[in-house]
Amino acid sequence: MIIANWKCNGSKEMMFSWFENYSKEIDCGDVPPTVGVAPPLIYFGYFNDENTSLRFVEWGVQDVDHLDESRTGAISVDMLIDMACDFSIIGHSERRQIFNENNNLIRKKLKSLNKRIMTILCIGETKEENDKGITKDVLKEQLEIVNGLELDTEFTVAYEPVWAIGSGLTPEPKDINEIHKYIKDVVQSNSENNLSPKVLYGGSVTDKNAESFFKEEFVDGALVGGASLDGTIFAKIVNIFNRTK
Ligand code: PGA
Repeated sequence: MIIANWKCNGSKEMMFSWFENYSKEIDCGDVPPTVGVAPPLIYFGYFNDENTSLRFVEWGVQDVDHLDESRTGAISVDMLIDMACDFSIIGHSERRQIFNENNNLIRKKLKSLNKRIMTILCIGETKEENDKGITKDVLKEQLEIVNGLELDTEFTVAYEPVWAIGSGLTPEPKDINEIHKYIKDVVQSNSENNLSPKVLYGGSVTDKNAESFFKEEFVDGALVGGASLDGTIFAKIVNIFNRTK
């Protein structure tokens, strides 16, 4: 599964060239991997309605609110369902850091999405935490979000070390693999239905390094930020995934 997270980037014009470039480059064969794009919310409807001819692409959002009432500026899960949204990312480190979201709130979001819209929960340690050697402790605490929940079988985790996002730095593939195994084990023992989730890697994934991650056993795909803004490069990453997995 390869997911594009466009964050707060893009324009109508950029999207036209993205579609064109992606369509030219993509070479999925008969069994395409799951590919999802999360554009800025304001463009979401445009994608979903007008461009359904873009084969094998699912459309999602980068965040959602957990309630539907008087909450100016918010978008609810019911609205996402109304718009045939395929997935929602929650808990991205930028939401945690810039918008002060904590585990408590992110758990509420997960509960309102669970079994209704496929959820991708982002977790990851900071540079300081990594240096201190407490990565697994940090991830375990972030994964408390799933405690006691009967998770949708499509529930997915994205492991995104904060220090790898947009920095050009990444952990070693074998270290990512070990962490992914750990995440699967923690979710399996903490969730009510003992679900072993898919785990995507995110943080400076490009068409140059993607293969080294996809070769690892427990890497089930990628969440791609910067490199997903170019349709050609994103399609290359999808093609590499298709060849490697
Ligand atoms: P990046 O972002 O690929 O630009 O590092 C990944 C993300 O934040 O999801």
